[in-house]
Amino acid sequence: MKTQVCIIGAGPAGLLLGHMLRAEGIECVVLERQTPDYVLGRIRAGVLEQITVSLMERLGLDQRLKAEGLPHDGFNLADGERLIHIDIAGLTGKHVVVYGQTELTRDLMDAREERGLEVIYEAKDAALFDIESDAPYVTYQKDGAEHRIDARIIVGCDGFHGPSRKAIPNTVGKEFERAYPFGWLGILADVPPCNHELIYANHERGFALASMRSETRSRYYVDVPLIEKIEDWSDDRIWDELAIRLGPDAAAHITRGPSIEKSIAPLRSYVFAPMRHGSLMLCGDSAHIVPPTGAKGLNLAASDVHYAADALIAFFKRNNADAIPAYSDKALARVWKSERFSWSLTKLLHRFPEDGPFERAMQIAELDYIASSKAAQTSIAENYVGLPV
Ligand code: FAD
Ligand code: DHB
Repeated sequence: MKTQVCIIGAGPAGLLLGHMLRAEGIECVVLERQTPDYVLGRIRAGVLEQITVSLMERLGLDQRLKAEGLPHDGFNLADGERLIHIDIAGLTGKHVVVYGQTELTRDLMDAREERGLEVIYEAKDAALFDIESDAPYVTYQKDGAEHRIDARIIVGCDGFHGPSRKAIPNTVGKEFERAYPFGWLGILADVPPCNHELIYANHERGFALASMRSETRSRYYVDVPLIEKIEDWSDDRIWDELAIRLGPDAAAHITRGPSIEKSIAPLRSYVFAPMRHGSLMLCGDSAHIVPPTGAKGLNLAASDVHYAADALIAFFKRNNADAIPAYSDKALARVWKSERFSWSLTKLLHRFPEDGPFERAMQIAELDYIASSKAAQTSIAENYVGLPV
């Protein structure tokens, strides 16, 4: 098969980019290793920045997002005793929207046929060839046969473990990494949220987050050492821990219920640069990972797609040969700022094993400073709501 752009991975980055290119009449094919149900079963992000919402708007695929997404004008930090309210709308004039990654992915999946976006699911063993040439190609296995897609550009949207980033020689690419000694244990339950806004808590016993998917579906997290096993965390144990860490006011409003999903996700900061080599571009988690504390991962994938789509449209429709090489620097400038914010919020809100009383006192002092300073709150709010693209 021959196409202009071969996209590897049909998570949010791959599907968003595919739709953006189809909307401009650019030919593309998306390859996905898993089934559609498997992709929809991964419970991940819940908070959308304006850039993500505006891409869905631009595609005209935002009807359900508009109807069912919950606009949030603020969120809270908690220090074990009090809530520190960050008034994002008052401080920045913008808001975020609570809408699950699963729902966004479903909206993009459902529009495939109508928009003529071809996604090949259960495409196994994707491999990239000749990425340094103008005629790269991808091979994959499906239904017992090997297939080949010839393209002008390949875009790797295949997440952290996919083959695209690994196709860039290590003499060209550089990795920047920080692994954290804890993961987030998440629970999803069909119970009303304990608070109308999110609460990110730093308690003596560790981090906790109260989030939601709707008025009737809650998402909560606690941080746990990486050696913890999900089997050792009964629903009751998670609810008990959340009630302690979120503090008495939130605890009084927690409605407990059976988990419909429970998992532990490791935390990592990671950047691969450059995000383009030859005829291969990388978007989303294939090029970078942020710890989830700032709710940035999906939103960064969306801003990469924004820059990548611009570059591909300039290249294919206006013969602008400089657009593709310019992509990496543009995307990375925003990636690094989101990495910084996610890392600093992670440091502020989690207990690290090596931390002693001094580090704890520094966290308390910083939270106290944030509580008393409009400038500090504005800095957090403008990063949380999303820096300009
Ligand atoms: P992915 O979603 O990982 O998609 C990659 C796709 O590529 C997958 O479908 C995969 O199956 C496919 N693939 C992999 N290998 C191959 C292959 N060989 N061939 C073909 N296909 C392949 N982000 C936020 O913005 N806000 C949040 O609130 C937030 N909360 C989070 C909470 C948790 C617990 C976690 C784990 C993440 C959270 N994130 C959040 C991060 C967000 O989920 C990711 O950044 C986002 O999924 C990245 O999208 P992506 O399309 O780049 O990658
Ligand atoms: C959710 C996840 C996050 O990482 C975050 O910062 C806020 C909300 C969520 O899954 O709802």
